[in-house]
Amino acid sequence: MAHVLERQVLGAIFLASLTLWSTPALAAPGDSTIPTAELDPHFKGGKEGHAYTREMLELGMRTGAATTAALRNDPDRSKVALKALREQMVKVGAMVPSWKPWFRTGVLDELESAVAAKADLASRRKIVSRLENSCTSCHARYMFQVQAQYRWGSFASAVVQAGGEEVTFHQLMLDLASSLGAVRGDVESGQFTEAKAAYQRLMERFSMMEQLCANCHDQPRQYFIDSSVKARLYKVGGLLRRGEKQVGEYTPLFNDVNEMSCMPCHQVHMPAAFLQRNALEGKQ
Ligand code: HEC
Ligand code: HEC
Ligand code: HEC
Repeated sequence: MAHVLERQVLGAIFLASLTLWSTPALAAPGDSTIPTAELDPHFKGGKEGHAYTREMLELGMRTGAATTAALRNDPDRSKVALKALREQMVKVGAMVPSWKPWFRTGVLDELESAVAAKADLASRRKIVSRLENSCTSCHARYMFQVQAQYRWGSFASAVVQAGGEEVTFHQLMLDLASSLGAVRGDVESGQFTEAKAAYQRLMERFSMMEQLCANCHDQPRQYFIDSSVKARLYKVGGLLRRGEKQVGEYTPLFNDVNEMSCMPCHQVHMPAAFLQRNALEGKQ
């Protein structure tokens, strides 16, 4: 609840800063702050679904129909299709007032006149490109922010229960990294009791991490936590049991864990996780 309110406050600040920008009404280049107060009502999730996403998908379908008809030089079809597209642009534009200026329908008028005047294909194509570019430039700037905020699931609230205590996603990550480093450090200094304890913690944290996936994924995922990664971890355990003192024996296994699990998973999930984190910090 509280965070919804905070989002609205943030949105109000965003709006206030927008009005400082006179013309054009679009945000300054590079500013990819999203108007969360205006977006929140369209991303309720659950049964009500993601209204904005649905309207965007509809916009995509209508754009495809209209541009195809216009390029085919089919005046009747393109008139009908452009009308439908115009209605959808107006509808989507009204959903998020700050973004209304992105949905200018002038380009549709131009396209309609070009078809009516039987303009050559190259000229019609140019107008179509301008329409398409207006979509792409907004997507490039804002789409990922919107997805991270509304479609990813929250990394901050992904937690796992361990013996009565609640371990956060972030804490679990820190524990994984410190256990991994501790195992190597302990082997280097010949402290095998400590190394085994650190290894045990590493394995415990690793299996806790597997439970975390279910916070967001309905289907079990194969990558990052699969049997080939676990095989490396079990081999580390085998070396420790044997009392292997050569760090070099462990090194390729540590590298594999990093390269097969930690790093690729970070490449997929971290951008969204850190965008969410920054958005939360911005509200404090
Ligand atoms: C689900 C895929 C996933 C896997 C697998 C994974 N991580 Fe992470 N990790 C994340 C995400 C997402 C974050 C950022 C979120 C956070 O820290 O709150 C993160 C953050 C971290 C951080 C904190 C980074 C920072 O700058 O504060 C460390 C350290 C870390 N992971 C270590 C590891 C290690 C070591 C492994 C492998 C043994 C690993 N992680 C495996 C997803 C993963
Ligand atoms: C002012 C910003 C903005 C403009 C302009 C815009 N969109 Fe979008 N669009 C979005 C955002 C934000 C999303 C992400 C919604 C989501 O992921 O839930 C999106 C998502 C979509 C999607 C779903 C894509 C996917 O893979 O998730 C389609 C299709 C789409 N837009 C089509 C269009 C078309 C066609 C136009 C131009 C006629 C257009 N959009 C103009 C902001 C915009
Ligand atoms: C906070 C939410 C969240 C958590 C926690 C999370 N993921 Fe994801 N992950 C996503 C989203 C969202 C995507 C992109 C869309 C999709 O694939 O569903 C994704 C994508 C992926 C992908 C790439 C798409 C594919 O299926 O090939 C893999 C693999 C993956 N996650 C594995 C994991 C694993 C393993 C864990 C646990 C260790 C995990 N994720 C934890 C949200 C999460």
